[in-house]
Amino acid sequence: MRRELRGARILLTGASSGIGRCLAEQAAQAGARLALVARSVEPLQKLAQSLTALGAEALAVPGDVTSEADRQHMLSAVVDHFGGLDVLINNAGVGSWCHFAESSEEILRRVMEVNFFGPAELIRLAIPVLRNGRSPAIVNVASMCGRRGIPAWSEYSASKFALCGLTEALRGEMVRFGIDVLLVLPGVTRSDLWRNLLRNTGRYQLDVSRGMPPEQVATGIIRALRKNRTETVLGWDARWLLRVNRFLPRLVDALLARQIRRLYAAA
Ligand SMILES: NC(=O)c1ccc[n+]([C@@H]2O[C@H](COP(=O)([O-])OP(=O)(O)OC[C@H]3O[C@@H](n4cnc5c(N)ncnc54)[C@H](OP(=O)(O)O)[C@@H]3O)[C@@H](O)[C@H]2O)c1
Repeated sequence: MRRELRGARILLTGASSGIGRCLAEQAAQAGARLALVARSVEPLQKLAQSLTALGAEALAVPGDVTSEADRQHMLSAVVDHFGGLDVLINNAGVGSWCHFAESSEEILRRVMEVNFFGPAELIRLAIPVLRNGRSPAIVNVASMCGRRGIPAWSEYSASKFALCGLTEALRGEMVRFGIDVLLVLPGVTRSDLWRNLLRNTGRYQLDVSRGMPPEQVATGIIRALRKNRTETVLGWDARWLLRVNRFLPRLVDALLARQIRRLYAAA
């Protein structure tokens, strides 16, 4: 199957920066009609204006995925404006870079709200609209941490594992509605995620500058949508980690544990 993006009505969360912003630009170039969601009103409106100036159809829908009222508004805005919905892309996300023993319940709950409960409830709300869409699809942007937990990303890994589990279960459930359910697992990406961390006290160091540009992730997501790819791993680090972890999970455990032991020994 090859999904046609020209004219596709897409609801995209997390559109104001990073991967979401690049995805909005590439989807607009492909002729999609976009409802763009994020909390920051100004960058969202500027993006919608710039895409509209290039001849695309783009609607800014400021909102928080963790708010039930905002999720209702996102859906009604897309239905009022475009008359329906073909693709829901759950891309909004937040991270926390901190060792679990020093973190808090508040951070754990916030990460789960943004990365799991928000997208899950948005999906539930969108099903009755999506099932009447053209080649309808749900795309969940998780992470390599959704398939392999990583130290200092404990809350984030838990939220992305939950999203991966939901995605796999829904893939079967949604067959009766004709809705495809796709999962994307990017590796480290040079985006604002690193500036927007809820907490940034992890000792374990990651070199973000070696991550992929967000444009590359957006291109991978567009390709996955067009080709209807069930699961897409993006980035050399994600491919390497998930491949080794599949066959030698104990080795990955040992390598990560050795790094942590070294960091704490030095302290
Ligand atoms: N960067 C990486 O290394 C990496 C790797 C793997 C996966 N990912 C995933 O990729 C997705 C996009 O992240 P990114 O790297 O592009 O980070 P980013 O630049 O920080 O973008 C995150 C987007 O989510 C929006 N957002 C955050 N909280 C929200 C909320 N409560 N309601 C609505 N929108 C919200 C932000 O806008 P506002 O702040 O204006 O709301 C922003 O548009 C996330 O799901 C992330 O987990 C990222």
